[in-house]
Amino acid sequence: MMQQPPESKYVPALGFHWLTPYYDAVVGTTTRERSFKQALIKQACFEPGQRVLDLACGTGTLAIWIKQHQPQVAVTGVDGDSAILSLASRKAQKADVSVQFDQALSYSLPYPAAYFDRVVSSLFFHHLSWEHKQRTALELFRVLKPGAQLHVADWGRPTHALMRGLFLLIQLLDGFKNTQDNVSGKLVTLFEQAGFVEVSQRQTFNTIYGTMALYSAVKPG
Ligand SMILES: C[S@@+](CC[C@H](N)C(=O)[O-])C[C@H]1O[C@@H](n2cnc3c(N)ncnc32)[C@H](O)[C@@H]1O
Repeated sequence: MMQQPPESKYVPALGFHWLTPYYDAVVGTTTRERSFKQALIKQACFEPGQRVLDLACGTGTLAIWIKQHQPQVAVTGVDGDSAILSLASRKAQKADVSVQFDQALSYSLPYPAAYFDRVVSSLFFHHLSWEHKQRTALELFRVLKPGAQLHVADWGRPTHALMRGLFLLIQLLDGFKNTQDNVSGKLVTLFEQAGFVEVSQRQTFNTIYGTMALYSAVKPG
């Protein structure tokens, strides 16, 4: 595990490291994963030759699907957890797609400024404290080229009371404090404060754990 400031603890994929081997089975069957990740891929409008970063890529599902959708992009997946990156590498090999996987923390990325054409991220920001969300948003702003785009899928403001109730399970697993920013609808503000423009919530998916929201944002050209 990467070293990090003591004030904010690292939240693994399903809240506990021992649950990581079950991640794909749980997420694949319970979160409408295919629907919302394919919607995110469509939203990002990838073009041949682009460099794409999948932030907090986990087991690599989104990164692999991007490469299968548009083989002419260079996809990098980054995550802080070496164990989950091993699962991702094996999955990419099995799918016969080429994805580079790197271990790093979201708020200290090992890439030059203005390097990527797209950053995508799914099911991730709710793992971070507000301070780390802010530092991560600034890092993404740094590594994106001027005019490049950010596309994020994560838990958002519930569309109705039942969705708010169902989200309690995610809060029990991943912590109440970090996840509260999401249900309060603060991700739009987060990206605007980092300097992004045209920040919007594009669509929502209701799931058995609450409302999944898709966002997009642009780094000014
Ligand atoms: C719920 S999983 C989502 C994985 C994947 N994006 C998906 O959609 O299935 C959250 C991921 O964030 C990673 N993570 C948590 N904190 C991180 C940080 N500060 N920097 C990088 N990765 C982090 C975890 O290791 C985990 O793989």
